[in-house]
Amino acid sequence: MTKAGMAATGAMFSPAVVKAITLNKKKKKLVLVGTGARGHGFWGKKLVDRYADYVEFAGICDINPGRVKFAKDFMGVSCPTFTSFDEMLEKTDPDLAIVCTVDSTHDEFVIKSLEYGIDVITEKPMVTDEHKCQAIIDAERKSGKKVIVGFNYRWAPYMTKIKELLVNNTIGEVTSVDFHWYLNTYHGASYFRRWHGMTKNSGSLWVHKSTHHFDLVNWWLNSEPEEVMAYGSLEYYGKNGKFRGKKCRDCDHKSECMFFYDILKDEAYTKMYVDNEKYDGYIRDNCLFREEIDIYDKMSAQVKYANNVTLNYSLTTYSPFEGWRIAFNGKDGRIEAWDDIPYYSEMEVDQAELHAAEMDQSDIEKKEHKPIIVHRIREDYERIIVASSKGGHGGGDLRMQNKIFMDPNAPDPYGHAAGTRDGAMSCLIGVAARKSIEEKKAIRIEDLSEYKPQAIKS
Ligand SMILES: NC(=O)c1ccc[n+]([C@@H]2O[C@H](COP(=O)([O-])OP(=O)(O)OC[C@H]3O[C@@H](n4cnc5c(N)ncnc54)[C@H](O)[C@@H]3O)[C@@H](O)[C@H]2O)c1
Repeated sequence: MTKAGMAATGAMFSPAVVKAITLNKKKKKLVLVGTGARGHGFWGKKLVDRYADYVEFAGICDINPGRVKFAKDFMGVSCPTFTSFDEMLEKTDPDLAIVCTVDSTHDEFVIKSLEYGIDVITEKPMVTDEHKCQAIIDAERKSGKKVIVGFNYRWAPYMTKIKELLVNNTIGEVTSVDFHWYLNTYHGASYFRRWHGMTKNSGSLWVHKSTHHFDLVNWWLNSEPEEVMAYGSLEYYGKNGKFRGKKCRDCDHKSECMFFYDILKDEAYTKMYVDNEKYDGYIRDNCLFREEIDIYDKMSAQVKYANNVTLNYSLTTYSPFEGWRIAFNGKDGRIEAWDDIPYYSEMEVDQAELHAAEMDQSDIEKKEHKPIIVHRIREDYERIIVASSKGGHGGGDLRMQNKIFMDPNAPDPYGHAAGTRDGAMSCLIGVAARKSIEEKKAIRIEDLSEYKPQAIKS
């Protein structure tokens, strides 16, 4: 039954029941599918703790009955749990669905929610291939409902400052971008332990991880990608290991493997994953040298935008540190920004700047102060200090959820809120990069869906 069908049956209730329903309706009724790490925490407990005046959970669902039970306890909610999304929609009559499952399944739940007649929030990446992308575009149009894509990084103050500098034309017309992202041998390696290691689940890191980065560039440039040429290989993890075992816990190579990970020392992960392996065989401490791994661990792409900007992008998954750096080259100068590059630490704020930034009380989260360099041609460079937030994706998580749940109609001057078109354009760069490697040629974005890239995004 659809949401409209549910409303029709509501007409049969007694006045007292209708009144109770109406009162209850003041809070949005949420359903969540996918109660793993991101689901039960960020889209679960955080909403219970922060937005209880605005939303309430009507149901939570996971294919794994043990994990959904774990999530219910962790979130401290009394709503029913489900292992079938369809049954959850039927029984709970929600207003909004949140999708936080394995990447390759997002389209199924997004489309079912739209067809049921409700808006839906999906975690990134919106989709893992171009066919699923077009199916969501079609379903959204048909339903008249809305897809919200959880692009949290956009909302971080540091990322927003870069946007502001570009919107204000600080370095004139931007002509090219250098963007390099480094994952270390903890975070980077973690993708190879799990479902992410297979393209059929994650679309590869070109989609799973880089969707964040491509979305940022699309948003910063306010333009859309036209063509992608890429290279990539698997040279470190997967088949490249000198030895391999079934899973870390009972591996014969514990003492010689620098990636040995004792999941049993992590109580939360043991409860969430290990204790529930019996239901679905999801092994969280899998060997990252498994032969079945087919994603790339070294990725490099050139993207030409419809406004003629060229992006040089790379993603490394076995860096000694975790961080990123970007440079925008414009006709009047250059902007440089970065995060967590250890060798740049001496460039970070002096004490006077630190004090000034600390006087800025606009943000009650735990602050850090990060520089952005603006270097105009034939001028000295300027260091702009941004009062940023530690954790929660640089403060992006909190700001995105405030907008979605507390004040959806709040002004959005920098266009932070992301929808289907944004979700599509970022995923399609990754899909095109994959195809470019396979087919050894440049791939045009316009060939992947009905969306024609716009030089200036409308
Ligand atoms: N925006 C961010 O910064 C961010 C951070 C982390 C994860 N994520 C996204 O969140 C999603 C979940 O990631 P995670 O780290 O929580 O993974 P996870 O493996 O911990 O959780 C995934 C959950 O989905 C469930 N699931 C899988 N298929 C299902 C199905 N068909 N029906 C119902 N449940 C199903 C699994 O049982 C599991 O509990 C991913 O799409 C990931 O890209 C986003």
